[in-house]
Amino acid sequence: MSERIRNQALKSKVMTAEEAVQFISNGDMIGTSGFTGAGYPKGMPAAIAAKAREAQERGEEWAVKILTGASTAPENDGVLAEADAVSFRSPFNTDPKMRAKINEGKVKYTDIHLSELGMYVQEGFFGHMDVAIVEAVAIREDGSIVPSSAVGNNIEYMDAADRIIIEINEWQAAELEGMHDIYRMPMPGARVPLPIVSPGDRIGTTSIDIDPEKVVAVVFTDGPDRNAPFKPVDETSRAIAGHLLDFLEGEVTAGRLAYDRLILQNGVGNVPNAVLAGLLDSKFENITAYTEVIQDGMLDLIDAGKMTMASATSFCLSLDAAHRMNDDATRYKNHIVLRPQQVSNHPEVIRRLAPIGINGMIEADIYGNVNSTNVAGSKMMNGIGGSGDFTRNAYISSFVTPAVAKNGDISAIVPFASHVDHSEHDVKLIVTEYGYADLRGLCPRDRVQKIIAIADPEYRPLLEEYVEYASKSKARHTPHDLSRAFEFHTRFLETGSMKK
Ligand code: COA
Repeated sequence: MSERIRNQALKSKVMTAEEAVQFISNGDMIGTSGFTGAGYPKGMPAAIAAKAREAQERGEEWAVKILTGASTAPENDGVLAEADAVSFRSPFNTDPKMRAKINEGKVKYTDIHLSELGMYVQEGFFGHMDVAIVEAVAIREDGSIVPSSAVGNNIEYMDAADRIIIEINEWQAAELEGMHDIYRMPMPGARVPLPIVSPGDRIGTTSIDIDPEKVVAVVFTDGPDRNAPFKPVDETSRAIAGHLLDFLEGEVTAGRLAYDRLILQNGVGNVPNAVLAGLLDSKFENITAYTEVIQDGMLDLIDAGKMTMASATSFCLSLDAAHRMNDDATRYKNHIVLRPQQVSNHPEVIRRLAPIGINGMIEADIYGNVNSTNVAGSKMMNGIGGSGDFTRNAYISSFVTPAVAKNGDISAIVPFASHVDHSEHDVKLIVTEYGYADLRGLCPRDRVQKIIAIADPEYRPLLEEYVEYASKSKARHTPHDLSRAFEFHTRFLETGSMKK
């Protein structure tokens, strides 16, 4: 305990999660740490869920509002959703139980750009924050907090909250201390340029200074992050990654990129991870990343000497990779900076550094509008995450996806996106296992054939059929036949397949 809590006053606040739950009340707005399955609280959520159940058994309504960094894990979103302990949740979520409650309408969900939530809390748009629950690896002598495997919105939540509960997770390597770069974003009117001109630049401190008087409890935990394994790279992902790498090679040939000047933003997912695997055998060297999340593939690139520096706000590692990090955090600190998500996803910095953006998607339409979030226009999958922060501002924003989902019953290319997260104005490149569609500089009608060419061969005739109907429209700029534009989706909802 003495090494992890170095502040004398806060040592007296140590208690169990079951004791600390006294500080949580019905209706509270709670801001928690946690981002893509890393650094979320592992003790308090179960205690909060139990408190909710007890109240519900007495016939009382009892629920809290939860803001996080991004997705957490079964021990947080899962247990809270299962206990019907949440009335409101923001932002990005991947937990299936929480997703089900959101889609049943039992949890109100606000899906927001990840760079914006902390700022909105600072500005008071989400109302009063009662409690912040933050996982840390240590509390320093001065009472400042050393975050664990994610920084997320920890600063904004602890600043805004009346009460702070710190979870010290002894599973997380103490050597993570020093990896973080903590910068408190000033309020509008006081902001200055962020002096990050290279992904490794540091602009802050290595711990979060807080008002120690607000700390009501310190809870010890000892457990790993979610650490879900990535799927092994299959034929489809390998093909998609191959096409994206061909595109990047072409950019080098065209003189718009250099083998030693690749900066990546890589979304989380099996295909983006396959791209990282593909880079291992590529000609690219001295790769850097200005991104949101450090995945297994980045550790591999660092270990191979291919990646020199990665900036993110959290890890999203398999258990094997998390052990590698824990065993070797001191070395990885030379190559990794973890920042608040307001900084990792900051539009100003992204536009300056000009990374290549690589994100997954649900579907794209024949003009290049992309749906990342809502299946058939209304069923929430995960959320927009940081994809909007990067897509709008990256140098080249690409979307990678298998051409079909659900055994071929769903086409990733549709006549009209049933929900639009990224509009045709921002989407520069779409990649499937059939190739890439480079949309840069093309008018909407000239994009159509490029996009249909990378659709699954079974769906290409159906897409051509739609283009024929649409071309009867008198409006020639972005021709649509609105009576048929959602035929793929309505057929899927009626028959279970988009195929005719
Ligand atoms: N309709 C219905 N389901 C679809 C679909 C579609 N058009 N496209 C994909 N899916 C399903 C897949 O079937 C799969 O389901 P399963 O988990 O039951 O097998 C799931 O979505 C994941 O698809 P996968 O092909 O494995 O890709 P992925 O892991 O890259 O995830 C997204 C794709 C869109 C769900 C994911 O990229 C996402 O949430 N994106 C939004 C946030 C984001 O881009 N963040 C990046 C910044 S970090």
